[in-house]
Amino acid sequence: VALTGVGPQLARVPANRPRLPSAERLLPYLREIDENRYYTNLGPLHARLTARLAGHFGIDEGQLGLAATGTAALTGLILAIAGKADSAKPYCLCPSYTFAATALAIEACGYRTLFADIDAESLALDPQRIAGTPELDQCAVVVVVAPYGRPPDLRAWQAFSTTTGLPVIVDAAACFDTIDAVDVCRGPVAVAMSLHATKTFSTAEGGIMLASDFGLIERALAALNFGFLFERDCAMPSTNGKLSEYHAAVGLAELDGWAAKRESFRHVAAMYGEVAASAGLAERMEVNTLHANPYALFHASGADEAAAVVKELSRVAVDSRYWYGFGLHRQVHFSGGARMPLPITDDIAPKVLGLPFALDLGLADINRVLSAVASPLGRRLG
Ligand SMILES: Cc1ncc(COP(=O)(O)O)c(C=O)c1O
Repeated sequence: VALTGVGPQLARVPANRPRLPSAERLLPYLREIDENRYYTNLGPLHARLTARLAGHFGIDEGQLGLAATGTAALTGLILAIAGKADSAKPYCLCPSYTFAATALAIEACGYRTLFADIDAESLALDPQRIAGTPELDQCAVVVVVAPYGRPPDLRAWQAFSTTTGLPVIVDAAACFDTIDAVDVCRGPVAVAMSLHATKTFSTAEGGIMLASDFGLIERALAALNFGFLFERDCAMPSTNGKLSEYHAAVGLAELDGWAAKRESFRHVAAMYGEVAASAGLAERMEVNTLHANPYALFHASGADEAAAVVKELSRVAVDSRYWYGFGLHRQVHFSGGARMPLPITDDIAPKVLGLPFALDLGLADINRVLSAVASPLGRRLG
């Protein structure tokens, strides 16, 4: 592609460029699988990954369940907590400002989504505002989203669940390194996370379920294993959403190298922060320098400014993403769904732009990205 003014040799900077454990690091685990001849169905590597992750989080292994994807983790928790939808409570309240997976998991359990607006600061549902919603009467469960790996306000949602008597599940897809699992296990709110390649800690495809209640995790695992609770008898609404031994192998190798991977994420975030500050854009850039987080977000002052930034980024071969689109209510499949007024979602979604992030993004790439962000704003890197 010829790029006027930027040189034809410029390599594209993708929005996300994952790196998972190399073949070499996987090999010992793959050899174990060859030896075991156990390929899925909650085998020995699955058990070991569960135990090691529980140790990593400082919780009991009965409080952590693995799933084939983050979507499956959500599905397993909804089925275990609320079962399938019935006519008395057909709805599940959730934000429109999220990735499609949140609502698809809800629908897979038979519920109709009821989209609620977000808070302008947290970009998440506001428990105080939601508590006053009359439509809660018709909701069997509330699915809260912790957007962009930002840690959820667990205490507030635990209090909400206790006061309203409604089960709450947090879709904390990208929160592997920001979630306080010990805090999760102190209260009634369950958490689902994604181990997709685009996240930080990854098994390529995978998910984690966290809950204080051992019985709940047991039921959620059964909901992802044909409803087999204690014997080979389908005892509950369910699906097949198990993590295979091969994916568990990736997880074990990923854990071996996690400390270094985590530092790489933080290093790139710090570089982003420093370069943004040199252009006076520190307030507009959101990166997490303390924890591994797969997002670098630019907060534009308006939709037009964001669009101008997208155009300039594209001109210099840099990809960008509105990771949650402009809200699910603007996507074809969900456009006819039930919703409350969504003025904040409508205002904010077109202003939050995902910039490239990868654990090995170099300073030259970051300079290219942020020069292109700064230019339509009439700024330059210092
Ligand atoms: C907010 C949110 N929820 C759920 C998911 C689904 O996770 P997975 O892709 O592992 O199914 C994602 C994935 O990107 C997400 O961003």
